[in-house]
Amino acid sequence: MSKPSILVVRAIFPEVLDKLAQYFTVESNTGDQDWEPGELIQRLQGKAGALTTGGQRIDAALLAACPQLRIVANMAVGYNNFDLDAMTAAGVQGTNTPDVLSETTADFGFALLMATARRITESEHFLRAGSWKQWRYDMFAGAEIHGSRLGIIGMGRIGQGVARRGAHGFGMEVVYHNRSRLTPAMEAECKARYVSKDELLRTADHVVLVLPYTAGSHHTIGAPELALMKPTATLVNIARGGIVDDMALAQALRERRIASAGLDVFEGEPKVHPDLLALPNVVLTPHIASATVGTRLAMANLAADNLIAFFEGRGLLTPVNSPVF
Ligand code: DGY
Repeated sequence: MSKPSILVVRAIFPEVLDKLAQYFTVESNTGDQDWEPGELIQRLQGKAGALTTGGQRIDAALLAACPQLRIVANMAVGYNNFDLDAMTAAGVQGTNTPDVLSETTADFGFALLMATARRITESEHFLRAGSWKQWRYDMFAGAEIHGSRLGIIGMGRIGQGVARRGAHGFGMEVVYHNRSRLTPAMEAECKARYVSKDELLRTADHVVLVLPYTAGSHHTIGAPELALMKPTATLVNIARGGIVDDMALAQALRERRIASAGLDVFEGEPKVHPDLLALPNVVLTPHIASATVGTRLAMANLAADNLIAFFEGRGLLTPVNSPVF
């Protein structure tokens, strides 16, 4: 029996490609170029499956042009690159990679919070530029982490990991806002108290965004929300570009209406709003919150295992829709 054909749209670990090759005829993006939608469609011709990385839009136009496609396995927990309704209507299965990255991403959220509040990047640039001539009482004096109030918007598995780190590791008072409340047992475990979004923004010393990107979460933080925040506050976005209005944020940072921001994701990334690039009080990283070798390998393996399970007719590990086949 011939093997199904699949497309792996970006470079991934060679050992995962080797595993896939045992089950499939694999075309992979050996050059690791970001294919334009037209080229992606062309390469998907005749493919029954695809392994994507979150940067490729799977929409109605692509699905109409690729009628043989049956499953797209995203190597990402976020799947806002999927038009899920169009995929379900076209009978195309989608999968993602939850859980395997939660703790690693929470680690990074905390690292970015600390780098931002304690002005680590800014002070390192100062030192490397040879500007450090003497000690000064207020040199790079930042905001307190321990004992401060941490506000988390989006309280899924990653948000809960950030909460536990803050509450148990740093003695922070944790408040959160989410579409639904955690169970009392989970609230107790995370030592987190549910509050309204406005209360969170008005009272938190540090705000961390960990919610999924949807039409409803677009610009969750814009000029009105930034205006509610304390002038000493830190904002951290490890969720998705588009959840923050980057232009409004740059203006708030420039005018010191909030103290600082740490951003791992951007509207229209990999482009970054030029106003953000010019500001000293923002730490910028290139979407690396889940980037440890172990976690990225686990993500690639989970995406591959979803493809294998699908074509073997076994239950999917982490489906995100239920098309009727
Ligand atoms: C995810 O898994 O959604 C991360 O943002 C990596 O893309």
